[in-house]
Amino acid sequence: MSNAPGLVSPSAPCFRGGDLAPSGVFRSGLFLAARNARRAPLRCCATTVGGGVEDHVLGAAAASSKPRLPRVVGMGSKLVGCGSAVPKLTISNDDLAQIVETSDEWISVRTGIRNRCVLTGNETLSGLAVEAAKGALQMAQVEPDDVDLVIMCTSTPDDLFGCGARVQRDLGCKNAWAFDATAACSGFVVGLVTATRFIKGGGFQNVLVIGADALSRYVDWTDRGTCILFGDAAGAVLVQACGGEEDGLLGFDFHSDGHGQKHLNAIVKDEETELISNNNGAPLFPPKRSSFSCIQMNGKEVFRFAVRCVPQSIEAALLEAGLTSSSIDWLLLHQANQRIIDAVATRLQMPSNKVISNLANYGNTSAASIPLALDGAVRSGKVQAGNTIAAAGFGAGITWGSAILRWK
Ligand code: ACO
Repeated sequence: MSNAPGLVSPSAPCFRGGDLAPSGVFRSGLFLAARNARRAPLRCCATTVGGGVEDHVLGAAAASSKPRLPRVVGMGSKLVGCGSAVPKLTISNDDLAQIVETSDEWISVRTGIRNRCVLTGNETLSGLAVEAAKGALQMAQVEPDDVDLVIMCTSTPDDLFGCGARVQRDLGCKNAWAFDATAACSGFVVGLVTATRFIKGGGFQNVLVIGADALSRYVDWTDRGTCILFGDAAGAVLVQACGGEEDGLLGFDFHSDGHGQKHLNAIVKDEETELISNNNGAPLFPPKRSSFSCIQMNGKEVFRFAVRCVPQSIEAALLEAGLTSSSIDWLLLHQANQRIIDAVATRLQMPSNKVISNLANYGNTSAASIPLALDGAVRSGKVQAGNTIAAAGFGAGITWGSAILRWK
């Protein structure tokens, strides 16, 4: 891979390894039939949730270990619903100009952003995620009981240990299990493709994929280079098993390269606390209390990386799908900067009327940005059933990846 110094190492590995069959094989169903024949009987993820932890884990052990009857095994997976939610408080560029030395003109010309929403008061990221997921379930006409898996894509959970299970509980998805997935602004695309693996290879029927982030928690509000960019939000899609001919994931491509971490991170920082002493007064061990630093970013390097690597990734995913950019109805990139979106569209020769952008209203919402923009485009009637979408995420890690999708 060609490379400006620093950000993407020449040997940046590709996520797809030899153990994953090419999607053509997945779509044929032959590989799946064999794989699912092994996998389906092993499924026993069902749990019966009563009032709380005691009921669920301790008291209801017999119920929770009872294997669920394998459902219909899908040969394909499709997106059948979406939803989104944003916090109540909107901060405009003019508001920011009162905190740091900046202006509405500078921010909107350099980034395309005019407003962003941030969590305040009692609002939580989990709350936004639940609201977004409810929208997706409603559109898909799927009951919470029928969800098998909740994938919570976030870098900023309400709990260090993850908040997917809490979201699953609050949604009432009592037959599902949940986990968190972290890949920064690529997180939603990673979660989406992961969902399809559970459906195609695991016999799952309905998987909720939620992208949610509250980067406002880690923004240095005195740093005009970063505080203008980020907002909080959640977006969700319901991915459902279907016949192979209806498959909605046509191709994908993923990469990560830790060499670029130095250009975009929110590193853990340790604070020395008082030494704990044993009886002799000698230090027993030096305990540390950790928290995360605010977001540090070399904007120019990230910009260059995105403009170079994202089109390459989309082209790789298109190649796998057997498509060219001219057959794509919509380009849906991680919403980081309008100039990045425009540059990628130009490289792919996609006209601006095929580009989805909601940056002006919400800024960069990290893992939420793609499903948030998708939900807006679907609900406004832009994206129609059968449309093909090239979606790509990129960001901290660094990570980047693309998926070619069909809506419904
Ligand atoms: N208002 C006014 N002036 C500013 C501001 C501001 N908010 N921010 C920077 N400047 C000044 C700088 O100090 C500099 O001044 P100088 O020339 O006197 O030194 C000048 O503007 C140019 O600064 P640059 O940083 O070179 O501006 P640039 O054109 O690169 O734009 C930006 C900065 C908007 C951050 C851009 O680099 C960018 O969007 N990069 C990509 C970020 C991104 O995509 N992140 C995605 C990943 S997010 C994730 O994964 C969590």
